[in-house]
Amino acid sequence: MAKDELSARMERIVSLCKRRGFIFQSSEIYGGINGFWDYGPMGVELKRNLKDFWWRRNVQEREDVVGMDGSIIMNRAVWRASGHEETFSDPMVDCKVCKTRHRADLLPERDGAKYCAHCGSAHLTEPRDFNLMFKSHAGPIESDENLVYLRPETAQAMFVQFRNILDTSRQKLPFGIAQIGKAFRNEINPRNYTFRSREFEQMEIEYFCRAEDGLRLTDYWLEERLKFYEDIGIPRPKIHIKDIPAADRAFYSKRTYDLEYEFPFGVSELEGIAYRTDYDLSRHIEHSGKPLEYHDEVAKEKFVPHVVEPSAGVDRTALALICEAYDEEEIAGEGGGSETRTVLHFHPRMAPVKCGIFPLLKNKPALVACARDIAARLRPHMTVFYDEAGAIGRRYRRQDEIGTPFCVTVDFDTIGENGPEKAETVTLRHRDAMSQERIPIADLRERLLAAIH
Ligand code: GAP
Repeated sequence: MAKDELSARMERIVSLCKRRGFIFQSSEIYGGINGFWDYGPMGVELKRNLKDFWWRRNVQEREDVVGMDGSIIMNRAVWRASGHEETFSDPMVDCKVCKTRHRADLLPERDGAKYCAHCGSAHLTEPRDFNLMFKSHAGPIESDENLVYLRPETAQAMFVQFRNILDTSRQKLPFGIAQIGKAFRNEINPRNYTFRSREFEQMEIEYFCRAEDGLRLTDYWLEERLKFYEDIGIPRPKIHIKDIPAADRAFYSKRTYDLEYEFPFGVSELEGIAYRTDYDLSRHIEHSGKPLEYHDEVAKEKFVPHVVEPSAGVDRTALALICEAYDEEEIAGEGGGSETRTVLHFHPRMAPVKCGIFPLLKNKPALVACARDIAARLRPHMTVFYDEAGAIGRRYRRQDEIGTPFCVTVDFDTIGENGPEKAETVTLRHRDAMSQERIPIADLRERLLAAIH
């Protein structure tokens, strides 16, 4: 697709997200706030499905990974030890003409020189480091002693709690700690919709191992994570694996893969999988003076474990799911011509609403009662949407736009008006093929559960 077409597609995706309640600008009625977003009724379900599936796959279905939920604000010493206080910064420049601020490494270049992305001027200040951590104070006195940071990643809590988790979970190497939670970065230029935000969520695993297993386990996690993306509806060919060369890796990392997705605004990072050696635990041993070593009682050895870290963004993955699912199809219209159907082809396990339930006519109490009864019976097991307004075709289109994989229609056959053979059956409509089949109400729950699990 040409660049213009891609940006027009992105605009239509953004507009759908607002129109159908996926994503809103934070504080919109006050003019918004750059880099912050709110998720509406559909967006929050999508994110929840994503996080729940990640948790199930990486924690609940594994014997060797346990979860935790750490605080967002931690002792400042954590960020000294991790190196964030000193080095977690981006190079910032100011445009001398229009006074806008930019991340120097992301500016466009002309004839080998960077220029302002806002006004085009090449009159820029020298780059200076800008630390991305948001600051606050814990307690009523705004002193340097009380200075705290909003965490810029969830990872550090897992290193800092390594000893407690090891002692209480009785795990043996290799094993992992997983966490999902908010992170904050005062990005100089938030951009590409939710892609680069100042407040976002991460899903991270710290997988501890022996040094000799580090490289092998990095490749193991790469494969696990690719499988995960496939299982939520992002096919492998859409994920680009970037094996980061040594010169571009953190000095302590022996291998780092970036997983990138083909967003309409360009191929961009979804997740990093880094083999971080024993850097993090060693730093915390050094700074805290506490013993975070692992004791192998069988081999009678004591050592600092190495770690492999798959670190994914919830918001970026949710955006990738929406971009991947978005489609505009030309289909036969009701009046004989063609019409455009906007549809989100979400994998059923990610779809915010699993099933739309409609009575054929809203002024027939028997149809309404039956449809409402089906909705009530399915609701404890999945998100359903009852809708009786407008023509059936219009109701299907509304569900297509939010990516509902199934719709059930209750008609006169269902309530036995056309004989006993079709009584207690409904029409099940499939979003992608737009095909319909007749199935007994009694089979509905199992059929849908099998598809969305
Ligand atoms: N603990 C390692 C770590 O935080 P990172 O590459 O800086 O590594 C991991 O971040 C992931 O977090 C990224 O791949 C991305 O999905 C997400 N992420 C990072 N910064 C983000 C931002 N400003 N907005 C949205 N997501 C972000």
